[in-house]
Amino acid sequence: MKILGISGSQRNDDSSGTHTLVKTVLENSGCEYELISLRGKNISGCTACLGCVKDNVCKIRDDMEPMRDSILAADAYVIGAPNFFSTLNATTHAFLERWYQFRHQAADALWGKLAVSVGVGGDDGVLAAEPIEMFMMYSFIETVARVTGQGAACCFSCGYGETCDVGAIKMMFGPDFKITPENTPSVTKQPEIMQAAADAGKLLGQRLTTGHDRAAVTQSVQKKMMDLFASST
Ligand SMILES: Cc1cc2nc3c(=O)[nH]c(=O)nc-3n(C[C@H](O)[C@H](O)[C@H](O)COP(=O)(O)O)c2cc1C
Repeated sequence: MKILGISGSQRNDDSSGTHTLVKTVLENSGCEYELISLRGKNISGCTACLGCVKDNVCKIRDDMEPMRDSILAADAYVIGAPNFFSTLNATTHAFLERWYQFRHQAADALWGKLAVSVGVGGDDGVLAAEPIEMFMMYSFIETVARVTGQGAACCFSCGYGETCDVGAIKMMFGPDFKITPENTPSVTKQPEIMQAAADAGKLLGQRLTTGHDRAAVTQSVQKKMMDLFASST
């Protein structure tokens, strides 16, 4: 069983909460894994050219191309993104839009696989994780766990955090807040979040290695999706 981890943060891997949590989930899964960081990668969003509809192969030539085989080979995914403006960041959104290439005709290559969603925000990562789960649902992939946490908003490192009137520091912590290394948030300082990531990894590993029935998962996610659409119309 092989898991593909994707860290959608553009921050360097050591300072990214997203990267840290995705890696922690993978390390605790007990499965073989590959971790790809989207940092510095050139990935366009889907252009709706429909070049993939006949053969399920995207025709855009960029850094997404070499990742296609890893996506297809994986039995499960751990996908993480930072919260930008109360949703997932554009890099991860573009990456997931390109999964449109797997959705045509009788293409069932991703159906019934499993996933863990990860979201990190200066405040909270829930609004980044939720849309990842919707992307998974479109490919009939079941998200078995969600891991979210607070990372360091850029205001902690931009140099103007304590004086800026529009940034997060004054808004979240008040006008007298002084930034120190000790009070700069990091997922690694929050044992309950690190534990949640470890638990999600263990659960994903267990689900994959104890009779994972892709047809049954496909059916249940298809039903969930149809119920969701029925309730929204
Ligand atoms: C353009 C931009 C928009 C952001 N918007 C939000 C936001 O709406 N809510 C939030 O909680 N954090 C927001 N943040 C803060 C990031 O989510 C935070 O820095 C997080 O730690 C990034 O994850 P990373 O460390 O994995 O890169 C924003 C950051 C940037 C650069």
